[in-house]
Amino acid sequence: MEIQKIEINHLDKPLGYRFDSLMIQAFVKAVSYPRSLEKHLVINDDLNEVVFDSGWQEALDLKFYPKLQLQAQTRYKVLLELRANQESWQKVTWFETGLMSGFSWGKWIGTNKKELHGISLSKEFSINKPVYKARLYLTGLGLYEAYLDGKKIGNEYLAPGFSDYNYYVQVATHDVTKYLTPGKHTLSIILADGWYRGKFGIEMHGGRENQYGDTLKAIAELHWQDEVGKQVLATDDSWICQTSQVVRSGIYYGEDLDMLQSKKETYPVVSYPQPSKYVYDRISLPIIAHEQFSVKKVMTTRKHDVILDFGQNLAGWVEFEDMLAAGQKVEIEFGEIIQNGELYRDNLRNARASFTYVSDGKGQIVHPHFTYFGFRYVRLINFPTEINPANFKAVALYSDMEEIGTFKTSDNLVNRLYQNVVWGLKSNFVDIPTDCPQRDERLGWTGDAGIFAKTASYIMDTYQFFTKYALDIAVEQSKNEGRVPLYAPAIDGNDGGKAVWGDAITIIPWISYQRSGDATILRKYIGAMMSWVDWIYDRAEKLGNPYLWLGDDQLGDWLALDTEDIMHLKGKTPDDLIASAYYYYSARIVAQTAEILKMKHERRYYQQLAKQIKAAFQAEFFTKSGRLITDTQTGLAVVLNFGLVPACGKQQAIKKLVTAVSKNKNSLTTGFVGTPQLLPALSANGYHELAMRLFLSEHYPSWLFEVKQGATTIWERWNSLDEKGMIADNGMNSLNHYSSGAVMQWAFEYLMGLKQVGEHEIRISPGLTPKVSLVAAKTRISDGEFGLTWQIKGVTKQEVSIELEIPYGTSAKLELPNCQNIVVNGQKMENEVSLGAGKYQLEYQATSSYVESFDVQSPLKEFNQNKNLIAGLKDLVPFWDFLTLPGNMKYFEDYSLLQLENEMRAIGFAPLSSTDIKAINAYFQKYALK
Ligand code: BGC
Repeated sequence: MEIQKIEINHLDKPLGYRFDSLMIQAFVKAVSYPRSLEKHLVINDDLNEVVFDSGWQEALDLKFYPKLQLQAQTRYKVLLELRANQESWQKVTWFETGLMSGFSWGKWIGTNKKELHGISLSKEFSINKPVYKARLYLTGLGLYEAYLDGKKIGNEYLAPGFSDYNYYVQVATHDVTKYLTPGKHTLSIILADGWYRGKFGIEMHGGRENQYGDTLKAIAELHWQDEVGKQVLATDDSWICQTSQVVRSGIYYGEDLDMLQSKKETYPVVSYPQPSKYVYDRISLPIIAHEQFSVKKVMTTRKHDVILDFGQNLAGWVEFEDMLAAGQKVEIEFGEIIQNGELYRDNLRNARASFTYVSDGKGQIVHPHFTYFGFRYVRLINFPTEINPANFKAVALYSDMEEIGTFKTSDNLVNRLYQNVVWGLKSNFVDIPTDCPQRDERLGWTGDAGIFAKTASYIMDTYQFFTKYALDIAVEQSKNEGRVPLYAPAIDGNDGGKAVWGDAITIIPWISYQRSGDATILRKYIGAMMSWVDWIYDRAEKLGNPYLWLGDDQLGDWLALDTEDIMHLKGKTPDDLIASAYYYYSARIVAQTAEILKMKHERRYYQQLAKQIKAAFQAEFFTKSGRLITDTQTGLAVVLNFGLVPACGKQQAIKKLVTAVSKNKNSLTTGFVGTPQLLPALSANGYHELAMRLFLSEHYPSWLFEVKQGATTIWERWNSLDEKGMIADNGMNSLNHYSSGAVMQWAFEYLMGLKQVGEHEIRISPGLTPKVSLVAAKTRISDGEFGLTWQIKGVTKQEVSIELEIPYGTSAKLELPNCQNIVVNGQKMENEVSLGAGKYQLEYQATSSYVESFDVQSPLKEFNQNKNLIAGLKDLVPFWDFLTLPGNMKYFEDYSLLQLENEMRAIGFAPLSSTDIKAINAYFQKYALK
């Protein structure tokens, strides 16, 4: 066994974070684990005093929640020991606190020259004695970068991230010990507008300026220790303020970087009162440069433009080697797609999204500093005609989360889809979860984030990222009696208070808890979660019924295809139904949260509330016999998944959902709300094959249609591009919008087959299907890494083999489909057995075949030319003769037998019974096995 790593609050060696509490977790790896493992955790402060000792404990899991009073500016050493029988293991790590209560010496400094959009603040100082510890604590508004002797400190960009700066600003801590050698040094901080004062937001088409303030400012303290003691250099009015090479920069604007501009003018330094209500140690993960992409293709367009294709849509910037002469000015324009042979940028709306650069002829590596772009292609303007593509790289910038997921199948289109979802995530988790990274928006839309949160949590460790974002939501709620904004930070002061979008505040902390077993996030935000549900209660009461959210302005099933709305923005599912269903869902989450936090009174209250909402919901939206008032895919999927269907209506609802899909020629009509709900509703209710059919559909509208069109990320709309690859010109069309990528949650839960049912308990029920022969996936669950690979082999496609990796602490109950006996690591066992941590090889003979065949859901055109097959089918399908009448087959070839049986009743044919359906499917299968 090996201790692979120890995380503190889900982070590796966190430096200068805000530690309100501690959760320390170790991750171990072994082929098989010792039985009676014991654990022991010791924390020492930097004087080497023991400040926490857990004592030896039985290790049911490898988590600790040490309670201790942390001191500021202290590095704590964490020692973890494990032992079993005669063996023992240990590992050491650390975490370090920041200033904890803000700055004591530093002043906020800047200049009153508001026309400056980029400034540099600097100070020369001397180090006299060897330094054995040095830290730089700093922050700034808008965005800052710090340099020591011209060298950038740390690897993060776009600091201090995006928050409601009036409310809080985050301080970063950097270890600068190795730079502070005896001698003269210069510390400088460059600043530009960023989210703080650049044009940003959706008001006024492209946002307003100066949303949080109109002067750039920074505060810093450099602390070092030498043999004499502690020394501090702090920002004050002795610093020098000059123009910066970053002349202008904005999130939508892009950047103007002029290397000849530097230090031309000096301005008086002014000090300011603290601009934010609170100054916190950092909560945000750093935004850092991750993957680099080289140029895949150089194109010269009819207009003689040179365009570089990096092959991947992403958020970040282009880095290039400066081969220009001093004074030469070049420009790079960013875009997502080529249309009619030219770079298309209309969908960026009012985002200028361009980078200009004036060279000083010194041949450096160039990139912008305080902005980022959503792009796959760039247009080079004024570059020398002979460019070397190897000099250009696209660099992806995103919050530094650990990638914990992988998902591979025997289907390459699905594999690409997974990558597209991953890139949707990477491009939009830039300190806040944004809707898209390219146009004049890039806002922390609550709805999008809530919808995608579970998927994101399978791919990346999102705990800390969402802890920060939930704070951003809670901050806005605190100004508005619990009302959740449409996006957080609510830069335009938007009013919000809409279903699904607002429910992000219950959903996101709840998912983070479910996925990790760490209730810290619930403890932090239970107040915010309750206040949202309470806000709905008051609102609903004002509108007429406290238990139903009726008659309000909602976003509905955003961008659904079954639209009747003249704006074509939301689908047909009634707003009231969606709003009331999510009201129930949130009330239930809050009740469950209160239960976990042992808040008896609150638990009872919200349980009762959820019960009342459910009763009111059923009375309002179902007939007495259990029929839902709508038959939209979204409506049916939501009520099934949320458990809102009265018992008498369950089978009816499932049938109606299946009909709603097959009636629509086996394609989906769902929008933001229904898309992540549809496949789980089908798979959970016996229609996994139909779910697979939707998942694997390559025709519009579907996920793989996008993949087939060459998408490298997820589109905002199902028809962002049409069959010919032409972009829909409709004012709102991003090619990098993760929302519908939320289908991957289903893939992890129903195709891989992972269900976390308790902190230390999972159920494994792989979604075996003839439609793919292999699924190999991994993710982290509460106790550590979980991996599952399933494969179907043999001529009759009945040999199932499964490889499993279960982390220490978790017990996994097998619920294998079509299975009686299994062989686990060479030993005979029964299905439904529970396995402990370890690696396993499972084999079994499925009780029926997974051969790929047609079924009652196959469109007729897939098999109607196959004479031999049809010969046997005629006897099983009573209305087959009808189909052979002139013209009929052509007319109905897009429909499946299942859909037709429904319609045929109208002209007197007996409907297919479930026995008929089974017999037809069995016939198809037998035929395929021949
Ligand atoms: C955003 C969406 C968002 C929606 C809601 C759009 O402009 O891009 O993703 O959820 O507005 O109104």
